[in-house]
Amino acid sequence: MSDQEHATTVPGGPTWYSDAADYWKNVEPTVDGMLGGFANLDDRDAADSIAFIDPLVRDGTIDVTAAACDCGAGIGRVTKSFLSHHFTHVDLVEQDTHFINTAKQDPVLNQGLVRHFINVGLQNFDPQEHGLKYGLVWCQWVLGHLTDDDLVAFFQRVLTVCPIIGIKENMASGHAGDFEVDLQDSSVTRSERAWRRIFKAAGVKVIKEKWQTGWPKALYKVKMWLVVKDESAEPETAGAAVAVNGTGAAAPMEAGTVVGSPIKGKAKKAA
Ligand SMILES: C[S@@+](CC[C@H](N)C(=O)[O-])C[C@H]1O[C@@H](n2cnc3c(N)ncnc32)[C@H](O)[C@@H]1O
Repeated sequence: MSDQEHATTVPGGPTWYSDAADYWKNVEPTVDGMLGGFANLDDRDAADSIAFIDPLVRDGTIDVTAAACDCGAGIGRVTKSFLSHHFTHVDLVEQDTHFINTAKQDPVLNQGLVRHFINVGLQNFDPQEHGLKYGLVWCQWVLGHLTDDDLVAFFQRVLTVCPIIGIKENMASGHAGDFEVDLQDSSVTRSERAWRRIFKAAGVKVIKEKWQTGWPKALYKVKMWLVVKDESAEPETAGAAVAVNGTGAAAPMEAGTVVGSPIKGKAKKAA
């Protein structure tokens, strides 16, 4: 790691979440903005997501009579292109006000499809507090913004109101450590090993996983997971590489590598 890579902005540091919020404030509220300039990948992304959950919808494992929750929803792209194929009602959770306001004005989203627009960061989102219940909570291209500890706590809160969580995120190869840090948007891209450690810490098990197909080679590979509560697991701490301790100081990040992303958004070039 170079001196610059040992930068003061470390994952989970005091400005970790506010830096991300500042970044997204300046991103245009469009599909292109959500996909870092790769709006052309919207259909391909949605087609694989639809096919991924389809068998579980048909066999009743995913209850589509309950609402879905689109986490880190941005302008509601995922709800429009994917979740609306299976669900009649979706809640959007998004921290950024200008994205939420754009979603509210979308004629497809605001005519009964979206039940609640919830303007909050996932690290503070507690669906139980609002008395909400879901058939599926889907998190796409957002969980890299959460520290490991916040992510584990988020999964645990969600599982009190929803039996299945869907995750669709970029995967780091693992060659540069368990995660790669993007200082531009204040996020990490985790390796599969890091994800499995988080699943274990959250007490969840994977019931289905699949790689996104037809993805440009220059971008990070993208993986989808469906996880449920592992009844046999004893929850533990994340043993986190991306954690915040009680004083708000960051945990060590030796396992990670800092990369500057040349592309905004989440359809990112691999490091
Ligand atoms: C790459 S965009 C993806 C948006 C949407 N999931 C999609 O695939 O079109 C990342 C989104 O995560 C949101 N975000 C970032 N940090 C967040 C946080 N802590 N809690 C909730 N949303 C967050 C951003 O505001 C942005 O809308």
